[in-house]
Amino acid sequence: MGHHKWLQISWLFVSIMFLSSLVQSSQTYDHESLEDLLCKQVNKDIVNPKTGVFYNISLPSNYTGMEVRVVRLRTSSFYKRGVNSSFFNVPPHVVPQPIRKRMAILYENFGNWSSHYFNVPNYTMVAPVFGFVAYTSSGNSFMDNEKMNLVITQGNPILIHFHHVRLHEKNDTPICVKFSDSGNLEFNNMTKPYVCETYGTGHYTLVVPIPKELYNKRQSKRFTIWWILGFVLGFVGLVVLILLLVTLVKAAKKTRIKKLERNSENGESFDTFWIGETKLPLAPTIRTQPVLEND
Ligand SMILES: *[C@@H]1O[C@H](CO)[C@@H](O)[C@H](O)[C@H]1NC(C)=O
Ligand SMILES: *[C@@H]1O[C@H](CO)[C@@H](O)[C@H](O)[C@H]1NC(C)=O
Ligand SMILES: *[C@@H]1O[C@H](CO)[C@@H](O)[C@H](O)[C@H]1NC(C)=O
Ligand SMILES: *[C@@H]1O[C@H](CO)[C@@H](O)[C@H](O)[C@H]1NC(C)=O
Ligand SMILES: *[C@@H]1O[C@H](CO)[C@@H](O)[C@H](O)[C@H]1NC(C)=O
Ligand SMILES: *[C@@H]1O[C@H](CO)[C@@H](O)[C@H](O)[C@H]1NC(C)=O
Repeated sequence: MGHHKWLQISWLFVSIMFLSSLVQSSQTYDHESLEDLLCKQVNKDIVNPKTGVFYNISLPSNYTGMEVRVVRLRTSSFYKRGVNSSFFNVPPHVVPQPIRKRMAILYENFGNWSSHYFNVPNYTMVAPVFGFVAYTSSGNSFMDNEKMNLVITQGNPILIHFHHVRLHEKNDTPICVKFSDSGNLEFNNMTKPYVCETYGTGHYTLVVPIPKELYNKRQSKRFTIWWILGFVLGFVGLVVLILLLVTLVKAAKKTRIKKLERNSENGESFDTFWIGETKLPLAPTIRTQPVLEND
């Protein structure tokens, strides 16, 4: 009996694992908590940072495919000269706020993680998501918890260059998307091939619309996943119910046999036989033992 039960329980466990993996595969990660983690790691990893030097951050192995760089700048130099990294081109005369002596910029290339962290309904991403976040930087810590906004009142916008763009239909011109902090999407046309303009920090990518028929196919795939989920859930529910019933019936039988055995100890006996491991009474007849009387 014990062996059998363990099998059932492990089967149940496997089904639950399978279910949670199904749910997890459609989950999107939160980039804000990732950035909190990155800030902590940057502050821990980089001691005696040099101003104006770009540092590559080595990420834990479970983030392979993502690239992160940071740089610390004097805000006066940032305002005077701007700053270029491989993707973001910040021109002069951009004002970081609040006003501080130093700032730190976090550059992220989400690579093959892009679709895990970001999603544009009805569109396909044809480039990785690039992140560009500014923080205040003080005495000892490379990055403070305080984020900075960029204000451009005069001069040119910030340019984002997408070098590696996935193949797409010729007549589908990619569109720039900004993922704003409030969770909204802002769409804009490219200003030059694979170049987007922006007036602030944030997360950016290029998308093309999903063709209608492909959209329908995806919907039906999603529908199938939910259908399978429902089926598996129902099945697990049924198994749990059956297990419960079997346990209940077994418990009831046990107490009945115990009761009968107790009765037999009290002088009433009956014949029993065994099926498997279950003791059953053969006949309901109850014989009363003759009572021997002492002289
Ligand atoms: C930092 O990473 C970039 C892109 O992965 C690479 O081109 C560059 O050589 C790296 N720099 C250093 C100092 O490791
Ligand atoms: C990577 O591992 C760390 C712990 O080492 C964990 O906090 C984090 O959530 C993991 N991230 C992913 C994307 O699995
Ligand atoms: C991204 O690609 C790397 C190999 O280049 C791989 O190790 C990693 O698991 C991939 N990440 C995701 C989320 O697919
Ligand atoms: C950034 O690149 C532009 C051209 O792409 C150049 O004109 C500008 O001087 C560069 N700025 C810095 C700070 O290197
Ligand atoms: C996506 O497209 C479908 C039909 O083309 C439409 O019903 C749906 O509202 C769209 N979703 C979003 C988020 O725009
Ligand atoms: C983008 O360009 C198309 C024409 O190519 C135009 O119809 C559309 O309004 C533009 N969108 C924006 C946000 O400027």
